[in-house]
Amino acid sequence: MNPQDIKEILYTKEDLDETVSRMAAQINENYKGKKLVVVTILKGACIFMCDLVRKLDLDVEMDFMIVSSYGSQAKSSGVVRIVKDLDQDITGKDVLIVEDIIDTGLTLKYLVKNLKSRNPASVHVAALLLKDLGNQLQPKYLGKVCPNEFVVGYGLDYDERYRNLPYIGILDEKVYSQDQDAEE
Ligand code: IMP
Repeated sequence: MNPQDIKEILYTKEDLDETVSRMAAQINENYKGKKLVVVTILKGACIFMCDLVRKLDLDVEMDFMIVSSYGSQAKSSGVVRIVKDLDQDITGKDVLIVEDIIDTGLTLKYLVKNLKSRNPASVHVAALLLKDLGNQLQPKYLGKVCPNEFVVGYGLDYDERYRNLPYIGILDEKVYSQDQDAEE
């Protein structure tokens, strides 16, 4: 990876650790004595989830969903499709959806509605980032409000790249404008 692909580092490894610890403390407090089904939306939220669950002092079960919302382009397709569903029945269970970033909020809106229709005891959302647009679904547990830019790292990708960066940064536009030029 070319370090120049990242225009600006928004959150360092230390910032992220502090943010995840704060969110875990809130979750520990609110679900004290309860069992929790943590539903991770792959692939973007997987690194966040791994750090989050290791800070939870609860009885946690993990399940995973894959939904399609983004192709290789840095804008929302608006189409949400379940590619992989949960392995378990969540009837009567407390469910926490773990999401990496809320942009338009279309993905989560669809997922919350879908999971609520399965009669769980509760469904809440823990999102690491929320883009500063002002009108999306507000997660119960939120890490940071971030600028309305395309960001990568700590699980977040552009065309499957940059997920392994230990920090989150703004992707330089030249990376996706090069791809767009190549397509034309
Ligand atoms: P939404 O449905 O528009 O809220 O999009 C949510 C999904 O799009 C996230 O779970 C990410 O997978 C992806 N996404 C949105 N914004 C970004 C970004 O800035 N970088 C990387 N992925 C993003």
